[in-house]
Amino acid sequence: MNLLHIDASVLGDNSVSRQVSAAVVARLRAADPGLTLTYRDLAADPIPHLSGLHFAARLGAEVPDQIKQEHLAGEAALEDFLAADIVVIGAPMYNFTLPTQLKAWVDRILIARKTFAYGPSGVIGLAAGKRVIVAISRGNVYDGANAPAEHLESYLRTVFGFIGVTDLEFIAADGVQIGPERREQALKGALEAAGALRAA
Ligand SMILES: Cc1cc2nc3c(=O)[nH]c(=O)nc-3n(C[C@H](O)[C@H](O)[C@H](O)COP(=O)(O)O)c2cc1C
Repeated sequence: MNLLHIDASVLGDNSVSRQVSAAVVARLRAADPGLTLTYRDLAADPIPHLSGLHFAARLGAEVPDQIKQEHLAGEAALEDFLAADIVVIGAPMYNFTLPTQLKAWVDRILIARKTFAYGPSGVIGLAAGKRVIVAISRGNVYDGANAPAEHLESYLRTVFGFIGVTDLEFIAADGVQIGPERREQALKGALEAAGALRAA
């Protein structure tokens, strides 16, 4: 079984989502030491934002060498995703949604005829069967009056639903900027939830 682990926080060792995603991976690996792990740090090693030239490269057009390399990096990210049975994503909330680095990854994953297709009755997700676990960290809380401002979890639910992932799990550390106690509590709760995940 292949496990793809992705982090996107720009906060390095201070990142909450990185701690939680690492705990998720540790839990899954403890339960199944045979898992093959691929790790990608999108903050340290970002995938360039999608451009028209990258599309042209995908269609086989002659493009400058740098674009070719960037296109290949995007293709490699897609191949890693396609090969994964389990995907663990550390997803911080920045400005009400996902970090731009994670969006650049999503842009390389939602590819027609690879992860979705249009059929006579609409879109068909081609990535069904993968287990996706998202470790979310948010500074504020998004229930009640704040709910309409939540565009991270809701967005990722749409993205993975679109490509047919029905085995989608979220672990959230919420309110981590409200105060140190609140942060500690939220992190503790998320780490406990990670430790209690069902085995792969
Ligand atoms: C650039 C930036 C933008 C942020 N924007 C929001 C926001 O819109 N809403 C929110 O609740 N928290 C926001 N936060 C707080 C983060 O969601 C919180 O610190 C979280 O722990 C980030 O995950 P990380 O620690 O893994 O990087 C922001 C933090 C940063 C650094």
